[in-house]
Amino acid sequence: MQFPEYRARRVRKTENLRRMVRETRLSVDNLIYPMFVQEGEKITDEIGAMPGQFRYSVDRLREPVKRMVDLGVPGVILFGIPDKKDPLAQEAVKADGVVPRAVKTIKDLAPELTVITDVCVCEYTSHGHCGVVRDNQVDNDPSLELLGEMALAHANAGADVVAPSDMMDGRVGFIRETLDEAEHDTVAIMAYSAKYASAYYGPFREAADSAPQFGDRRGYQMDPPNAREALREVALDIEEGADIVMVKPALAYLDVIRQVRDEFDYPLAAYNVSGEYAMIKAAAERGWIDGERVMMETLTAIVRAGADMILTYHALEAARILAGG
Ligand code: PBG
Ligand code: ZN
Repeated sequence: MQFPEYRARRVRKTENLRRMVRETRLSVDNLIYPMFVQEGEKITDEIGAMPGQFRYSVDRLREPVKRMVDLGVPGVILFGIPDKKDPLAQEAVKADGVVPRAVKTIKDLAPELTVITDVCVCEYTSHGHCGVVRDNQVDNDPSLELLGEMALAHANAGADVVAPSDMMDGRVGFIRETLDEAEHDTVAIMAYSAKYASAYYGPFREAADSAPQFGDRRGYQMDPPNAREALREVALDIEEGADIVMVKPALAYLDVIRQVRDEFDYPLAAYNVSGEYAMIKAAAERGWIDGERVMMETLTAIVRAGADMILTYHALEAARILAGG
């Protein structure tokens, strides 16, 4: 069909026509809110490069949890910030560590909220790497024990989903086995399957004080130019028992999200990471972009690319807009 018989603009004429032909719908159902929980008391500490995001002590979780419930955000993912770090991340595996206590508190406040915990030791290690370090290298197999113990501590506290973000080989299978042996066969695994060694994590590392003290994470996280490798990573995690797979970051990897969506039938999450959040906030603060519109356009793009769920620091703000507020 050629112009002038076909005019694409006809269905763009009014908002109601646009609503009717809209192909992608962003919903509050797609959103997962990441939160930082810090050891200590009476802490509500705004993160410098993430305006509007805070480190909360467990006693301060009531208010953000209430906001999530009021807005209908279905899930939260927790990151822990301990007060002591050591080479073997001993705070990460404690039954009464900051994350297990936060899980229990949130489950008391809002039992129906899906509580996901990030499983990685970089916030807990003195060297800031995501596993056990030997000879300046992250040693894969000994790291699995640590990750299994950490996931188990979270599951024991009542987490619905554990989300390993370390990128060690074999960790999904190891964690699945550890959980099943402890009769946590109903606790799901959301695997950070295609997690890239990205500069977009900068603000998060400030927030969680988790920057590596030497070297970088390129020996375990994925190389940004690779997409076929992402499909292998996803396939492996599914074989090992992942219930939900993830691509991270989101915006610079929309092509990877699309390829994973086309190739696999599993629920797919995308992580709209700290640097993506910071860029929108910084430009909006300067008046260079309309922050709310860019936020909604970005989140919609991630769903259009094929994500079923988005981990995003914008979750509460976006939920408010979606509710018409
Ligand atoms: C821990 C972890 C990181 C993020 C999620 N889990 C940081 C990293 O790998 O360095 C990044 C999240 C973000 O930037 O918002 N491994
Ligand atoms: Zn890590």
